[in-house]
Amino acid sequence: MDLMDKVIALSKRRGFVFQGSEIYGGLANTYDYGPLGIELLRNIKDLWWKTFVHSKENIYGLDSNILMNPKVWESSGHITSFNDVTLDCKNCNLRTRADHLIEDFYASKDKEIKVEGLSLEEIEKIINKEKIRCPSCKKFNWSKPRKFNLLFETHIGIVSGEKFSVYLRGEIAQGMFVNFKNVLDSISPKLPFGLAQSGAAFRNEITLGKFIFRTLQFNLGEFEYFFDPKKDNWESIYEAWKKEMWLWSTKILGLNKNNLRWRAHTDEERSHYSLKTEDVEYKFPFGFKELYGLAYRTDFDLKNHMEKSGVDLRYTDPVTGNKFIPHVIEPTFGMDRSLMAVLVDSYAEEDKNGKERIVLKLKAQLAPYKVAVFPLLANKEGLTKKAREIFKKLSSEFNCVWDDRGNIGKRYFAQDEIGTPWCVTIDFDSLEDNSVTVRDRDTTKQERVSVDKLSDYFQNKLS
Ligand code: GAP
Repeated sequence: MDLMDKVIALSKRRGFVFQGSEIYGGLANTYDYGPLGIELLRNIKDLWWKTFVHSKENIYGLDSNILMNPKVWESSGHITSFNDVTLDCKNCNLRTRADHLIEDFYASKDKEIKVEGLSLEEIEKIINKEKIRCPSCKKFNWSKPRKFNLLFETHIGIVSGEKFSVYLRGEIAQGMFVNFKNVLDSISPKLPFGLAQSGAAFRNEITLGKFIFRTLQFNLGEFEYFFDPKKDNWESIYEAWKKEMWLWSTKILGLNKNNLRWRAHTDEERSHYSLKTEDVEYKFPFGFKELYGLAYRTDFDLKNHMEKSGVDLRYTDPVTGNKFIPHVIEPTFGMDRSLMAVLVDSYAEEDKNGKERIVLKLKAQLAPYKVAVFPLLANKEGLTKKAREIFKKLSSEFNCVWDDRGNIGKRYFAQDEIGTPWCVTIDFDSLEDNSVTVRDRDTTKQERVSVDKLSDYFQNKLS
């Protein structure tokens, strides 16, 4: 099994990620988070909010609706420009994204190429020149490449003929642009300031596989950082966010630096709204792929919304009274990809004291459970009573898990596999000396800690 298969197997076995609608044979590119996965995802999202909203004086949160007036997507350019190019194999009917087909072909020859943004003719030329075959049936019999809009369309209304089309949001950024005036009018922020939100986005993706890397519904965290382009130098703001994104990836998520890199988009590849884009890429088991993006969106969005809605979206400088449309730099973070990178990065197989173990070396702040509480033996009244008291007390501060099944060694290994940083065992001595054994996941070292000092002990470790 390669690393990806191992992580997928662990995710299912231990309740991190399940195939969506599995009992009906699944639904391609949809996944559900299990009891462990939702804790990990929440921890990532909460840390993101803490890092980029609560710890910043001038970034404010927002929570806009998934459904928006379709004019939003006309003005933003997503209806015309938010496209992928697809091809159908005329032999086996496989539908595939042209960029993935070509990139995978070159990757198999250890070459990197970026196809996004190339014209239909250019794409067809490469496929014909290289005679790239269908990855499924191995025949060379493609339809002409065609553009395919990624927005998910649905309808409001129940009477046919009176229904009208709306789109599930393809990015959450538009919620920030269309509420720009509401925010100015309500909390009067001064430039530079940011608007942040995190929530679900939807894209009609056709490429299958790669677990939660590319799904139809996914969790995004992004913020729009507005500034006065005459006062502030966009390159400096861009560089500052670049540093913060790196710190988030390495220090807060704890991803290994060697598995991360920055990659600049080519002119052809860049989204229609951006003047400069760079991605943080993570080295997944299937190669370096986009984890996050940083884009200089200029005044593209506010300008278009102002023109098309007829509503004045300009900012008024409080000192000079000048009115202008601010520019914006956007750091964007895929939350599911963060979770996937964290799982891949922290997965380890080790030989500990002659025993094989699987361990998720998650940062303690990310771990679904911080502490596991065990009575040494399950059916000893005194032990269970004391352990329950400790569990109750610790649970009011940390997410804890209770386990009294099997022998202690097995319980430790079961916690290692889901990344629980500390296990607390209540033994017969605990009844006498009011202390417990705390075992550390990474070192497997054990130490005695007084019950009265337990919560401080864990708070210190977590802070
Ligand atoms: N507002 C900018 C924007 O949406 P993007 O690069 O298209 O930019 C942002 O997407 C992030 O969303 C990506 O960096 C990636 O982490 C994540 N993402 C994009 N499409 C995804 C999908 N189909 N499944 C999971 N995550 C996805």
